[in-house]
Amino acid sequence: MSIINKAAAIGGGVIGAGWVARLLLNGIDVSIFDPDPEASRKVSEVMKGARRAYKQMLPGGLPKEGKLTFAKTIAEAVADADFIQESVPERLDLKHKVLAEIDAHAPANAIVGSSTSGIKPTDMQVAMKKHPERLVVGHPFNPVYLLPLVEIVGGQQTFPEAIEVAKEIYASIGMKPVVVRKEIEAFVGDRLLEAAWREALWLVKDGICTVEELDDIMRYSFGLRWAQMGMFQVYRVAGGEAGMRHFMAQFGPCLKWPWTKLMDVPEFNDELVDLIATQSDEQANGLSIRELEKIRDDNLVAIMEALSKQNKGKGWGAGALHKDYTKQLAKLAAKPAAKADGKAKTAKPAKKAAKPAKAVKPAKTEKPKKKSGKKG
Ligand SMILES: NC(=O)c1ccc[n+]([C@@H]2O[C@H](COP(=O)([O-])OP(=O)(O)OC[C@H]3O[C@@H](n4cnc5c(N)ncnc54)[C@H](O)[C@@H]3O)[C@@H](O)[C@H]2O)c1
Repeated sequence: MSIINKAAAIGGGVIGAGWVARLLLNGIDVSIFDPDPEASRKVSEVMKGARRAYKQMLPGGLPKEGKLTFAKTIAEAVADADFIQESVPERLDLKHKVLAEIDAHAPANAIVGSSTSGIKPTDMQVAMKKHPERLVVGHPFNPVYLLPLVEIVGGQQTFPEAIEVAKEIYASIGMKPVVVRKEIEAFVGDRLLEAAWREALWLVKDGICTVEELDDIMRYSFGLRWAQMGMFQVYRVAGGEAGMRHFMAQFGPCLKWPWTKLMDVPEFNDELVDLIATQSDEQANGLSIRELEKIRDDNLVAIMEALSKQNKGKGWGAGALHKDYTKQLAKLAAKPAAKADGKAKTAKPAKKAAKPAKAVKPAKTEKPKKKSGKKG
């Protein structure tokens, strides 16, 4: 059962609409602000896809959906929200403008999550003049309504209590919150993805493989391993009976060989964009983005369902969470009238989140002590 009474989404593009879908499908009312005149159509397209995916997860029926309201201003959208998720384009000046407005008009105890892919929360919360201590980065992965991970990052002014409440909020909508221990640009997920993407661009640019061949090399091999065990546990097993130490001894020295291009970035010119985009068009073989989204969603549900049956039926990794999440949604579906009297389901986040606004001192342990702008 969610602990959010009313949510606001600021920005309803790829990611904002994904948040809206996850929240609505958990029965939570959402107020959205997005200046794009096409926003309503785009959000309803994403909702269609999300409903379709959730119907596969819950053949017995979905919970009663929350109500979606399109607000005319940020002030109107956040006025009575206890959880606000910002998902506007990745520009610091825009994040400042939008977060300042959210901060000025949201209830003091509301938690504010930013979907940013890499901007440090310390650099964003300077724009929040009233309650910067309630800002966390809540970095999701696309499609937000299916992929459970959310990286939570606090800035120098974020109170530890805000991080705790954010963890509860995201977990209550079926997500797996992982708190990033130190504030760095791009956090953990995008650090890894960027390194892999940079290398992939070199391999295609240098004519070593096409985009399709590269994707095949990934999805027929280590992509399958990563989805269920990640990187380190897979390497532990690859070390044979001697495990991780043997693996490190064998492959550690290779890191010094000239295998990868590492930090070199291929020149991002029209030639490179054309090469990648043309090969990507060929690979799609006439399938539209919406058709590819359906295939992606079906495959993700199938993978999570398969993993939910592993480990003697207890589920493994994302599958264990998937099992709990579908149970939670089925329970919610069984009591559709819970909100009919307009009463809050629980005042938990509001109460707890009220603390960081005034009464709670930042704890020394969790707060990043110094700026960490260095690429790691
Ligand atoms: N696309 C991804 O895979 C991905 C993954 C994780 C995080 N993110 C992050 O999510 C955020 C949004 O990315 P996206 O891919 O959804 O971008 P997008 O371009 O698809 O959507 C951005 C939306 O914000 C709206 N917008 C612009 N100005 C606004 C304002 N002043 N107030 C409210 N809405 C406004 C736009 O109209 C648009 O609909 C970025 O910070 C991005 O880094 C993206």
